[in-house]
Amino acid sequence: MYKQTVDFIKSQFPNQDFIPLHEPRFVGKERQYVMDAIDSTFVSSVGKYVDDFEKQIATYTGAKYAVACVNGTAALHMAMIVAGVKAKDMVITQPLSFIATCNAISYIGASPVFVDVDMDTMGLSAQKLKLYLHEFVVKKADGFSYHKTTNQKIAACVPMHTFGHPCHIDEIAELCHEFNIALIEDAAESIGSYYKNKHTGTFGLLGTFSFNGNKTITCGGGGAIVTNDEGLAKRAKYLTTQAKVPHRWEFVHDEIGYNYRMPNLNAALMCAQLEQLTDFVENKRNLANSYQHFFSTMDIKFMLEPSEAKSNYWLCAILLKDKTTRDEFLQFTNDHGVMTRPVWALMNKLVMFKEALHGNLDNAQYLEDRIVNIPSSVRV
Ligand SMILES: Cc1ncc(COP(=O)(O)O)c(C=O)c1O
Repeated sequence: MYKQTVDFIKSQFPNQDFIPLHEPRFVGKERQYVMDAIDSTFVSSVGKYVDDFEKQIATYTGAKYAVACVNGTAALHMAMIVAGVKAKDMVITQPLSFIATCNAISYIGASPVFVDVDMDTMGLSAQKLKLYLHEFVVKKADGFSYHKTTNQKIAACVPMHTFGHPCHIDEIAELCHEFNIALIEDAAESIGSYYKNKHTGTFGLLGTFSFNGNKTITCGGGGAIVTNDEGLAKRAKYLTTQAKVPHRWEFVHDEIGYNYRMPNLNAALMCAQLEQLTDFVENKRNLANSYQHFFSTMDIKFMLEPSEAKSNYWLCAILLKDKTTRDEFLQFTNDHGVMTRPVWALMNKLVMFKEALHGNLDNAQYLEDRIVNIPSSVRV
């Protein structure tokens, strides 16, 4: 079964000795736009490509406003700041995620609370969130929700759309509304993914994206915040540009700011990549379709997009029988020129977060032992 899988994956990416997990494709106007940015001398945080990129990402996702950032982690950090998350607050998130989600929570001095994921989406479970909130959280007279055990404010909830598969985000949004918890979607992996025809990242107060080199579209390093709230968008732009009071020549800053704005050089690359996003997503969905057919003949579960969702299939994933099989599969594929990777170690097991509060995490544990990502690049 392992050899057949390696042969099949190689057949999908012919003429390559080594098949990486996800490599970028620069097959559009990348060089033209980057050269144009260089010739303009506007290579840093001011320039037409940054403004164009923000307009385009807002239009593409259907959000009213977008703020370009240096990377997805900075976008997430900033989203939490403008949402009002403060030191000693708690932020509900999922244990199955890339470390950046919890790092951003930690930069604020807040602590994560882990709620389980769903088996179908691999993202935060609305059902488990409901159970957790009703058991452990109380809404007080000030209108905010507090953890019954620690009396800390639950300032935000950060679900993540794992590998591009949207979680049941509308139900999560309803719960956040009921408990007056700011919903910030970590949509780092899900540009081009929709839930009930609405783009991921646009269901809550704010959403954030990553355009790191391993993502569906990339500018090397980059990120974005989207929101429908004009005040939050303005504040995010202000804080990501060193909190400078606008003036033609004076340097006045009236708050601690951040140098989090995407440089124009990267934004030029981003504008070229955005022109290809629809094709890239279609291409990746075709690959997912081929994988699904193949793995059904092998009796291996291929992780399909959840119902009512359209996934970008950023990273295709399979679910193996158990941890032993997973490890054998990883060994064989990586020994034979096909890069595969297990899912991240659960956040609650990492030394920094082992004291963090959490609910029952059975699904996350099951997935951690069995999920493997397989090569998912756009095929040329
Ligand atoms: C779930 C998730 N959140 C946040 C990030 C952070 O993005 P970046 O690497 O652009 O900082 C990533 C990816 O890298 C991610 O996969």
